[in-house]
Amino acid sequence: MSVARHGEAVLSGDLARKVIDPHAYAEWDGLLDTFDAIRTSTPVARVQPDTPGLFDPFWLVTRYDDVMRISKDNAAFLNNPRPVVFSFNQAIEFSRAATGSNMLVDSLVVFDAPVHPKYRKLTQEWFMPRNLARLEDELRALAARTVDRMLEQGGEVDFVKEVSGPYPLRVVMQILGVPPEDEFRMQMLTQQLFGGQDKDLSGSGMDKMTPEQVVHIVAGAVQTFEDYFAALAEERRRNPTGDVASVIANALVDGEPLPPRDMAGYYIIVATAGHDTTSASTAGAMQALARDPAQYARVRADRSLLPGIVEEAIRWTSPVQHFMRTAAEDCELGGQQVKKGDWLMINYVAANHDPAQFAEPRRFDAARSPNRHLAFGAGAHQCLGLHLARLEMRILFEAILDKVAAVEPAGEAKRASSTFVGGLKTLPLRVTPA
Ligand code: HEM
Repeated sequence: MSVARHGEAVLSGDLARKVIDPHAYAEWDGLLDTFDAIRTSTPVARVQPDTPGLFDPFWLVTRYDDVMRISKDNAAFLNNPRPVVFSFNQAIEFSRAATGSNMLVDSLVVFDAPVHPKYRKLTQEWFMPRNLARLEDELRALAARTVDRMLEQGGEVDFVKEVSGPYPLRVVMQILGVPPEDEFRMQMLTQQLFGGQDKDLSGSGMDKMTPEQVVHIVAGAVQTFEDYFAALAEERRRNPTGDVASVIANALVDGEPLPPRDMAGYYIIVATAGHDTTSASTAGAMQALARDPAQYARVRADRSLLPGIVEEAIRWTSPVQHFMRTAAEDCELGGQQVKKGDWLMINYVAANHDPAQFAEPRRFDAARSPNRHLAFGAGAHQCLGLHLARLEMRILFEAILDKVAAVEPAGEAKRASSTFVGGLKTLPLRVTPA
């Protein structure tokens, strides 16, 4: 049993287990109940392991205002040197053994100033709406093909398998210059690297391996990524195309090209951050519409409602469920004394369901205004791809509204078991073509 510091609000036992148990994240209402209970009693709570050494204690932050404050103050709350995602000590040891670092890959999310702004600046412009506008025709064609393929299945479909999974994956692979024939390989490598907590999704069988085998596979996956993207970057240096892969390949930091590990890290963070997240919000939006036929009919008739639906779906699903920060100095937070070096979990699911900020937070309210949610984070690390995510979703739903007259649930939707990026892994629907 870890020893609590004097006067701390400590969370242990069942509530602490639920916060770090991937299976608890498969039960959405139960998860929201847990966060509501914690936010009300101990909005900043120290989470301790029951088994010593299982994980390092951390502060769980559940109030909207506190998550916002931490996100915006990157000098006081750092992304380095502890992992930016909740990790068991064994996973951190695997990472050290495989890569020599606490983090499997160095990327935007693990850098702090002064390195972070230099790397962020390289692609910031590329991800702004002005530049993304030139992707619109391509996205429209891809969205139309994806929806047509779904309708060819006829009647009942799994929306995740047919639409919300493949569409954002192709978008992100396209901007990274990965051809369709390599897409599956990239997805498998990502799963080996991040070892999916949900057995249905990971399919890697890594849960049955010895620690040595896991380290071997993870180290191999990192190397394969580095080699793949080094070759891609070489090609983009010879023939730049204007995609984000070309921007990264030709980028200079302090007058030097990116080292291979950082370059691979840049590609990997875009590939991984841009896929499951957008899938989860897309599936959530469709679930909300399928449950409310009147709302579906309203937005079919009035497309100006679509941006509100997209934004609310992103809040309502909050696919990135948390990130971690490390305190750079002692501070007071929610009545608790946080010490320099302490690890903190900023919980976006809890913050985006804080009734002090959102009236009836569990209700899907397409007209919610203002809707200043934290699903994309805030501050210096705020999601680089937020405009792309919104654009992708808007264009996909335009195609759906054009081509699908009505939609209704056709079975039980299931959520993934994952503490980090979460969302629906199946969404059975009955679709009626227009
Ligand atoms: C609905 C979809 C998405 C959600 C909910 C989401 C959410 C997030 C969150 C919460 C962060 C961390 C913010 C912080 O620490 O303050 C983040 C960072 C990031 N996201 Fe997204 N994201 C989405 C889509 C995308 C897409 C489409 C891309 C790119 C193709 C992308 C690329 C990134 C990158 C590169 C970062 C790291 C930024 C940095 O550390 O400077 N994301 N995202």
